[in-house]
Amino acid sequence: MSATFFPQDIIIKKRDGGVLSKVEIDFFAHGVAEGTFKSYQASALLMAIFWRGMTPQETAWLTDAMLHSGEIIDLRDIPGAKVDKHSTGGVGDKVSLILAPLAAACGLKVPMMSGRGLGHTGGTLDKLEAIPGFRVTLSVAEFRAILQQVGAAMIGQTPQIAPADRKLYSLRDVTGTVECIPLICASIMSKKLAEGIDSLVLDVKFGRGAFMKSKERALELARAMVAIGQVSGKPVRALLTTMNQPLGRAAGHTTEVIEAIECLKGRGPADLMELTYALTGHMLILGGAAKDEASARRQLEAAIANGSALEKFRQMCVAQGGDPRVIDDYKILPTAKLFTEVRAPADAKGFVSEVDALKCGHAIMALGGGRAAVTDQIDHAVGIADLIKIGEPVGAGTRLCTLHLNDHAQSFRAEALIRDAIQFTPTAPTLEPLIQDLIQ
Ligand code: URA
Repeated sequence: MSATFFPQDIIIKKRDGGVLSKVEIDFFAHGVAEGTFKSYQASALLMAIFWRGMTPQETAWLTDAMLHSGEIIDLRDIPGAKVDKHSTGGVGDKVSLILAPLAAACGLKVPMMSGRGLGHTGGTLDKLEAIPGFRVTLSVAEFRAILQQVGAAMIGQTPQIAPADRKLYSLRDVTGTVECIPLICASIMSKKLAEGIDSLVLDVKFGRGAFMKSKERALELARAMVAIGQVSGKPVRALLTTMNQPLGRAAGHTTEVIEAIECLKGRGPADLMELTYALTGHMLILGGAAKDEASARRQLEAAIANGSALEKFRQMCVAQGGDPRVIDDYKILPTAKLFTEVRAPADAKGFVSEVDALKCGHAIMALGGGRAAVTDQIDHAVGIADLIKIGEPVGAGTRLCTLHLNDHAQSFRAEALIRDAIQFTPTAPTLEPLIQDLIQ
């Protein structure tokens, strides 16, 4: 791309609080993808954006430029509404594993591109890879074929999708510029719009285990992403949800796959099912498969009760090379060598007042189930199961969770983190709603 200006002109303009033009933003995003905007200059511009922010128009232009830095999958020839869900991430969040086959069982097409876990948060791709043989790297042709045949396909971001985001995200990761709303918004929305979706539901989490610590920041991010949907002509709804305690009773990889399959069998924990039904319900409404939340809920409950959602999961597993026998035999999944129950101390009496999601995430990392750097290997077998929830009664020796581990030495740090994460109170605490707001 030819330009009459230099990267440093754009950096200086933003550094001094200016508003960038579409041409300047295109020059930046395409230059990053093509390597003409050097990484040291991109890093400087990212930091200037971090401090000076971006107007809604600049954010929309950045999203569009990042989207067009690569391939946009065209799914228009595949019949049915193409609707996806994206979560900003947390601990124990295995909703995608349940939601994708569930939505497909209710008639939607779910073209889902997910990410890997980093730091204390888990990633859908890593969880799927706990299933022996499951391939998350597919060609676009395979992705389209599975979407058409099964109705749901779950893969990783291909190198052709939003390459500017790929480069910018790795720079942000090492330059302290991740927590910036316009940059997060453009990063997420450029990838989602490149999937060829018709509409999108977002789960924007806030709290101790989330990216966004406060509700206000989460609201700002949700509004920014919904606004990008409006500009792009793709309806987007966002649920604002809390991530103070892990979602469900399992965190890790094998442990979460088992919990997700249990949900598809109708035996899921209440909080996880509540969120899964709410997010999938909004997908059905946006995709025209349900007229309102109540009728969506009826369809979703029926798809769990009659086994059609579980059958979609099985079909997706087979189509993506995974061993479908995991559905009936959890021992096929990577299994830990040791299991340790963490129990409440002898003086415990009352109720659980806190299960700190961040500390639980750190406990999984201590067991070897998390990544500090993108290149780290993870142990799929380790994790947390049977986790107690806020509001549940405790007494001396009540089981707080079961740790799945492969090395006894790991258990001391993990157990200490879990003990620190779980707090008690003599009287029943007031439970905060999991779903706090709907932005559309
Ligand atoms: N997830 C993304 O894909 N991008 C961000 O910037 C943050 C979370």
